[in-house]
Amino acid sequence: MPSFPEKFLWGASTAAYQVEGAYLEEGKSLSVVDESIAPEYADTSIASDHYHRFKEDVSLMKELGLKAYRFSIAWTRILPNGRGQVNQAGVDFYNELIDELVNNQIEPIVTIYHFDLPVVLQKEYGGFSSRKIIPDFIEYCRVLFELFGDRVNYWLTINEQSNMFLLPYLISFTENSDQSKLKQKYEMNHIMTLAHASAVKLCHELLPNAKIGPALGISPIYPKTCDPKDILAAEKAEELRNTFFLELYCNGRYLPTMQAYMRGNDCLPTIEAGDLTLIKEGKCDFLGINYYDSKTVEHVTEQDRTKELVINKDGQAGTTEKEVVEGVYKGCSNPYLERNDWDWEIDPIGLRVTLNRIYQRYQLPLLITENGVGAIDTLTEEKKIHDTYRSDYLKKHVEQVCFAIVQDGIEIFGFCPWSFIDLVSTTSGFRKRYGFVYVDRTDTALRELTRHRKDSFYWYQGVIRSNGKVL
Ligand code: BG6
Repeated sequence: MPSFPEKFLWGASTAAYQVEGAYLEEGKSLSVVDESIAPEYADTSIASDHYHRFKEDVSLMKELGLKAYRFSIAWTRILPNGRGQVNQAGVDFYNELIDELVNNQIEPIVTIYHFDLPVVLQKEYGGFSSRKIIPDFIEYCRVLFELFGDRVNYWLTINEQSNMFLLPYLISFTENSDQSKLKQKYEMNHIMTLAHASAVKLCHELLPNAKIGPALGISPIYPKTCDPKDILAAEKAEELRNTFFLELYCNGRYLPTMQAYMRGNDCLPTIEAGDLTLIKEGKCDFLGINYYDSKTVEHVTEQDRTKELVINKDGQAGTTEKEVVEGVYKGCSNPYLERNDWDWEIDPIGLRVTLNRIYQRYQLPLLITENGVGAIDTLTEEKKIHDTYRSDYLKKHVEQVCFAIVQDGIEIFGFCPWSFIDLVSTTSGFRKRYGFVYVDRTDTALRELTRHRKDSFYWYQGVIRSNGKVL
């Protein structure tokens, strides 16, 4: 196996609400995810207690050998009212974290917005359903760029705009609106795209040497068979779920085929004068890719009606119900792939497919910002975690990244698996773990929150030491 480029950013990722805890401490206010995370699991109040233990966590990162650490900043910690008064305690926390990283030669990669809208702004004007969010988001970005831009070279604007839009639980709708939910979604998506483009422009203006891009949640779409009807369904699903967002971010346009879809479904967003120019001007320097699985679809029949995805939150294999988009596609499973207990289909080659599809179209440098497998881990009496399923999953994905670089000529400058440490899963609390570092707590028992290195920790350490030669 040929080696990875020199200075490849071997990293790992987390997000504020999932690790920090201290969700109402030292001036922080609540975000919409603090309020909405599945109540049957651990909430975000303590999470992995990273807020109080970040020094210990950074020393584990150092021991692991990380070259980069991707984390998000909580808007609610910096601007508890959404705007206005800056919370000094929040600034101090991120300053100390960033200093600790830099002093340990770990490159900080900062996500500006990872699903955690301040509740105050949701209540005041419906969050991303109103254009009022744009000046507030820009103000928040300006504060971050001015305070942390001297040490942060890589910025991610919005995490998984597509998933906020495609999954049933990550955005709030306006009750009693005269607009359909579909129309509300496309309106919010447009406003979010304006916020993203404004952040990119501001970053370029204030921090000319920094690099900024989105973190896209991408699952490549496959047709169930080579029946042309399935091929068409897959093409359309790829457009609706992936290309739509990529074209907005990278080419600043609504594809004509998407315009036809939106007109046909009465969900064209309101596009004001200057919007498309702004979106075009917000040119990304790179694209972050969150990749977990691929998806397979088949054609719909005339009887098929729209049905929302039913997520398997408990890890009871086989309980996911795939979505149907009327007239477009119907989700189905892929008989060639294995799946985890949450029915996510494990597809390392799908990562290479994704990297190829995106790079062929846009030729922007790529950074893998998330990749990993959620699993139930067991802490043995000797305080070990034998998670070979995790290193197997990652090994196969790292191999495909290497093929993409060496054989396909794709510019990929880093790999940041999800997640550095165990954290509150967005859908399934602490039952579903992703970390290299085990946190001793469960959804119901807080215990000591002691950190333990999993077997995958030592595996990844070897990968980083050998720059990807030893997998
Ligand atoms: C990504 C998110 O969608 O997937 C993370 O950016 C999330 O926040 C991760 O945790 C895994 O999803 P889940 O639902 O298993 O936690």
